[in-house]
Amino acid sequence: MTAPSAIAAGDGTVATQAARRRTFAIISHPDAGKTTLTEKLLLYSDQIARAGSVGARRDRPSTTSDWMDIERRRGISVTSTVLRFEYRDTVLNLLDTPGHKDFSEDTLRVLAAADCAVMLLDAAKGVEAQTLRLFEVARARNIPLITFVNKYDRPGMEPLEMLDHIESVLGLTPVAATWPVGLPGDFRGVIDRATGDYWRFERTAHGATRAPEERLAAAAAREREGDAWAAAAEELELLEGAGATLQDEQFATGQGTPVFFGSAVSNFGVGLLLDALLELAPAPQGRLTVAGEQHPVDTAFSALVFKVQANMDPRHRDRVAFMRVCSGQFERGMRTTNQRTGRPFALTHAHTVFGDERTVVDEAFPGDVVGVINAGDLRVGDTLYSDAPVQYPAIPTLAPEHFVTVRNGDVTRHKQFHRGLEQLAEEGVVHLLRRDPTADPSPVLAGIGPLQFDVAVDRLRGEFGVKVSLQPTNWTVARRTDAEGAAVLRASSHADVLYRSDGSLMALFTSEFMLDRFHRQHPAVTLDRMLTR
Ligand code: G4P
Repeated sequence: MTAPSAIAAGDGTVATQAARRRTFAIISHPDAGKTTLTEKLLLYSDQIARAGSVGARRDRPSTTSDWMDIERRRGISVTSTVLRFEYRDTVLNLLDTPGHKDFSEDTLRVLAAADCAVMLLDAAKGVEAQTLRLFEVARARNIPLITFVNKYDRPGMEPLEMLDHIESVLGLTPVAATWPVGLPGDFRGVIDRATGDYWRFERTAHGATRAPEERLAAAAAREREGDAWAAAAEELELLEGAGATLQDEQFATGQGTPVFFGSAVSNFGVGLLLDALLELAPAPQGRLTVAGEQHPVDTAFSALVFKVQANMDPRHRDRVAFMRVCSGQFERGMRTTNQRTGRPFALTHAHTVFGDERTVVDEAFPGDVVGVINAGDLRVGDTLYSDAPVQYPAIPTLAPEHFVTVRNGDVTRHKQFHRGLEQLAEEGVVHLLRRDPTADPSPVLAGIGPLQFDVAVDRLRGEFGVKVSLQPTNWTVARRTDAEGAAVLRASSHADVLYRSDGSLMALFTSEFMLDRFHRQHPAVTLDRMLTR
């Protein structure tokens, strides 16, 4: 794979440029085929001539988001990357999300920058318990969802069973956009429900090149596929009878999802998914500001910082803030204001970041993601603007469910210990909670899952030279509260109150039961599940 070239200078207006962009994320369970599908999207958009690096990916340091040591060792994707490629004169920005539920908060941040998500499911496994959380996060954002049922070349759920499964597990209305011909394991092609045509695929060696495809009208397809066609046609009749067509409104609000069947490894259905991204995924629209107004895309420049990542590239030891352009045109070197601090911020060191390769960005448009290097002043949730002040709402984060006390193993590295923790909290790697907002020798790390703590420990050691130990705690539930609530909570023996690194107050309980009991006794106390960054 090669790094994407700098964005081609378009001569159109901002509105025209925005209209030719699609910014989306793929969310899936590890092993469902996200890397394979990503690579095949690049193959089908002519970005790469041959696919086939996926098998070797764990040994290769610089593919997609495998840039951190820990990712390489564990073979999981912890951080996110952005891939930009063009297909039929449309610029596709693919935002990667980590597949593990412990990193759901990272997914939530990435989804704040995406206009659409592809929900990738394994045909045999469907929505897996471990990743249900990620899909719920996507559902909660109400963004349009396109479902791709992968690995249909192997035995798995029947298509009708899969639709039922999606509906019952996610409470989402699935509407088949394509329909597979041939049982799972004997997959021959798909019927495009919009046209009624049959796309017949043929395998290529290791799926390294595009699958030859043949487009047949219904009569010819029936003749060619015999019983397999008849079975698919019968199932489709059942679907038509049930009136299952996708309403625009359902899709736009993430209540319904078009479902595509395919096999990324053998390239079946990849081209149709790519076309769907162009036709169905929305182009960047005006974004809602905190004032509740839709900020149009074709005004002056504004952007939202949705991710901050330090030391992505150990050679540089720097800090990259990823911002999504929300309106106007970004030009390298432009002067902006950071709404949170009111201070000027010059966008001089702006890049597209692809693994550990960087390409200078000279201009970008709504929907694009730009990595700002050495952005010490930028935090997740910051709005930058070039003209009239704009503020986009803070990015929600999830209430933590795992808590450990962290202790510094080397008193001589006291400063590094605290600086490291602050930095990890700012990036959103973990929540940092303290008994005293100014000094706590052994603060509490909180998160959605223990893998977050592993990352924190690893980074404290690798980047700050600090060896820490973690001790379990009894807390399992956290809610945001306020000063009045904190006074009531502190007087009760069922809860504790700690300060989050942003100054907000967190109430901690040992169980949901204790939380419910406290809430019943003190219904007026603020206990908010959603936090923000
Ligand atoms: P991930 O990024 O979501 O974790 O998944 P990845 O693409 O790495 O795919 C996980 C495994 O599933 C890989 O097998 C990959 O080849 C396989 N796979 C992906 N798409 C399909 C598909 O459509 N059909 C089938 N049958 N398999 C698929 P692996 O054994 O881990 O690696 P490899 O040696 O096959 O490359």
